[in-house]
Amino acid sequence: MSEVPTARGVLGVVASAAGGVATLRTGLVEPAMARGWRVAVTLTPAAGRWLRASGELARLETLTGLPVRDRPRLPTDPRPHPPVDCFVAAPATANTVAKLALGIADNQALTHLTEALGTPGVPVIVFPHINAAHARHPAWPTHVANLRRAGVHLIEGPDVWPLHEPQAAPPARELPWAAVLRAVDTATR
Ligand SMILES: Cc1cc2nc3c(=O)[nH]c(=O)nc-3n(C[C@H](O)[C@H](O)[C@H](O)COP(=O)(O)O)c2cc1C
Repeated sequence: MSEVPTARGVLGVVASAAGGVATLRTGLVEPAMARGWRVAVTLTPAAGRWLRASGELARLETLTGLPVRDRPRLPTDPRPHPPVDCFVAAPATANTVAKLALGIADNQALTHLTEALGTPGVPVIVFPHINAAHARHPAWPTHVANLRRAGVHLIEGPDVWPLHEPQAAPPARELPWAAVLRAVDTATR
């Protein structure tokens, strides 16, 4: 078990089953810990399946010193994570973003995020890992507007995440982790 930093507080990292989630540890969790955050990771069930299969889930647990959550606890179980000071959802699928905008909390990742949206003083940063087709869904603009109105810091736009048609993005495209980390810094300054 590595030594876990705590100086900045607890960063709740939430990730869903989108491309690039395999780089969550190296792109977000390790740099956040290097900046002094204690990191508590929660995954959607689909992302949990992916990262468990690849061995990343176990590596994240060793690194953070906390269980990685991908399912709700039993009511009789203690809460496995400490209270969170800031949430960052990255990468977030179109599915997870849409459900968050509607207040749907049908998994542990969304339970954290929907509660945080209604909790004053807890910033929520979301990086939607979407393509051009997702963005053309008729409900997408409303979802984004509602999240902005709720105070969510969205990482989006042609400079940080140009939208490509499905299956047409450059194959080894890196996630904009630097922009995500900057948003955490700005939101928690
Ligand atoms: C290999 C693969 C890559 C995917 N990448 C994305 C993606 O980048 N963005 C997205 O919105 N959905 C993507 N999906 C679809 C989501 O995994 C799917 O909608 C899933 O139900 C999302 O569940 P979650 O939001 O609970 O994690 C991908 C699916 C697969 C199999």
